[in-house]
Amino acid sequence: QDKPIPGGNTVLVEFEDGIAWVHLNRPDKRNAMSIELAREMNQVLDALELDDRCGVIVLTGSGEAFSAGMDLQGFFRASDAVSDVERHRAYRETRAWQWRTLMYYAKPTIAMVNGWCFGGAFTPLICCDLAITDQAATFGLSEINWGIIPGGVVSKAISTLMGDREALYYVMTGEKFDGARAKELGLVNEAVPAERLKDRTRELAKVLLEKNPTTLRQARMAYKYAREMNWELAAEYLTAKGDQTTFVDKEKGREKGMVQFLDEKTYKPGLGNYKR
Ligand code: ACO
Repeated sequence: QDKPIPGGNTVLVEFEDGIAWVHLNRPDKRNAMSIELAREMNQVLDALELDDRCGVIVLTGSGEAFSAGMDLQGFFRASDAVSDVERHRAYRETRAWQWRTLMYYAKPTIAMVNGWCFGGAFTPLICCDLAITDQAATFGLSEINWGIIPGGVVSKAISTLMGDREALYYVMTGEKFDGARAKELGLVNEAVPAERLKDRTRELAKVLLEKNPTTLRQARMAYKYAREMNWELAAEYLTAKGDQTTFVDKEKGREKGMVQFLDEKTYKPGLGNYKR
């Protein structure tokens, strides 16, 4: 018996052959992110990490938007109206799913951007491993347009993918840009026509599903932590992480790959996966 997925009010999950399609699901509000949505997303991501129906997460939005950013009513006004401690908690719960949980998630993640993507939505977009957008989607760091800074961790997040000139240009002007420009800026892997968006995302998810999941997790973590380190630490860490991967990989991919290439001569690692 499959466990029910929590949420259901502001987040919708659909399973399809190893892919969990996670929809920010407030289409009437263009999937603006409220405190309630943060709580549900935290629960949903925790549940999916341990759910065998999920090998890859695709994060997207229901209806016309990926997300119109933080909810001015359901996040900002709502958290202004409560005690300091409750406000702190609302910010912590939001940062948790948008940044920490997604960035270091146990399973691979793809953001699939449809429609609008504003402000706070850049954080989960950037913290997913990979991203594909509709080339006609609309992006914007619109914070400046209503008198706030790109807070939460948006300014930090954009600095990891965008150059300073481009990042500051959009931070300071609030100018919107399309999916094709998002690709040029390095915010997404690909920008495709709307009618290809879901199929192309599914194709990419399937490629990931064919990999050894342990090695895939270790490789993602290794990259994300090593980029924060100097060369000496990174070299030591990556060597140790490689040894740890051999230790935790029950599938023994490294050994299988070597045998199939060197002894059995049944595959070429440069050209594809070993037989699992
Ligand atoms: N916060 C709260 N409510 C929102 C938000 C938001 N970020 N975005 C949209 N909504 C609500 C609207 O108030 C409206 O509600 P209503 O039907 O109860 O009046 C509903 O969603 C639909 O929005 P419209 O503006 O009518 O939709 P439209 O398709 O014309 O425009 C757009 C979409 C361009 C996304 C517009 O809603 C908008 O500019 N939203 C704000 C975008 C933004 O700047 N977000 C904040 C970024 S800053 C940050 O995240 C920290």
